[in-house]
Amino acid sequence: MLVIQAEGVTKIFDNGKKAVDGLNLRVEQGTVFGFLGPNGAGKTTTVKLLNGILKPDSGSILIHGYDPVAFPSQIHAISGVLTEHAAMYDDLSAKDNLVFYGQLYGASKKEAVKRAEELLELLDLAPAKKQLLGTFSTGMRQRLSLARALINRPSILFLDEPTSGLDPESAKGVNELIQQLAKDSGTTIFLCTHQLRYAQEICTEYGLIDDGQLLATGSLDDLRALVFNGAKLELKSSLPPDWIPCKVLGPNRYQVDVLDEYEIPTIVSKLVTKGADIFEVSSRQLSLEEIYFALVTQKKVTGKVSEVEAGRSKQYVAK
Ligand SMILES: Nc1ncnc2c1ncn2[C@@H]1O[C@H](COP(=O)(O)OP(=O)(O)O)[C@@H](O)[C@H]1O
Ligand SMILES: [Mg+2]
Repeated sequence: MLVIQAEGVTKIFDNGKKAVDGLNLRVEQGTVFGFLGPNGAGKTTTVKLLNGILKPDSGSILIHGYDPVAFPSQIHAISGVLTEHAAMYDDLSAKDNLVFYGQLYGASKKEAVKRAEELLELLDLAPAKKQLLGTFSTGMRQRLSLARALINRPSILFLDEPTSGLDPESAKGVNELIQQLAKDSGTTIFLCTHQLRYAQEICTEYGLIDDGQLLATGSLDDLRALVFNGAKLELKSSLPPDWIPCKVLGPNRYQVDVLDEYEIPTIVSKLVTKGADIFEVSSRQLSLEEIYFALVTQKKVTGKVSEVEAGRSKQYVAK
């Protein structure tokens, strides 16, 4: 089932800034959708548009079939939102904060307490449940914000930079929880981040955005197919593979793009024949980060933005 449908969505702020420019998105239920781009790319604005907090200047949005501007209470009931600065009360305990927000969603006191206890357990905050939020570390606060976003068992969860400011350990915990939610309860997750490396670990689909424009959408394989499907072969060798294009990474270190892994043994045996000592051979596919930068460069050079949908790529000219 399609949970998020956005077509031609554009948002221009009063100062003339076009923060989102002709955005097309289709996200299926249960997807962990990574919406990725650097600061200022338009991610937070998109989350606000998808939640009905902002109204698009043109284009249409449907969340579970509802227009979020026309049906804010329906959207509120089915979605959870974690923003960078979630409002909670510093002078209330962790548990009391959750109970308060649970009741705001219409739960009885008893139900809200039960749900709060469950979430505190899930997010490893049970030992600190009586502690005032004001005394929480950044990591604990972020986990409590996530608990708050989950209080109404949302079927769609918007996470805006959920691991910003977290130490690697806490970030890992939050990542695991996000994956678990999508896997166990089919929750759709719309995850915004500028940390591409972290996104690659947990997302199943991606939308890459730059300066308000979508560069591409699809799975990692779809995105790779737009840029380079082969592998980067890295060699530590006393001689360079100088009969093919190769990049020098450092002393005795070389990188070659290979289209097929069967090229690797051929390259290695030719080097050996030439008398090279080979110390290390490794190969890897393009990372999300490399794909992102290749697509940004491609857009700058050709003015074209690539879009992949259902494995098929199409191209259109950026406005
Ligand atoms: N209320 C606003 N008024 C004017 N410009 C804004 C407003 N909110 C965001 N912007 C601008 O819109 C662009 C996109 O911002 P944002 O959606 O916050 O990006 P991201 O979340 O990807 O960092 C930025 O250039 C930002 O400065
Ligand atoms: Mg943002």
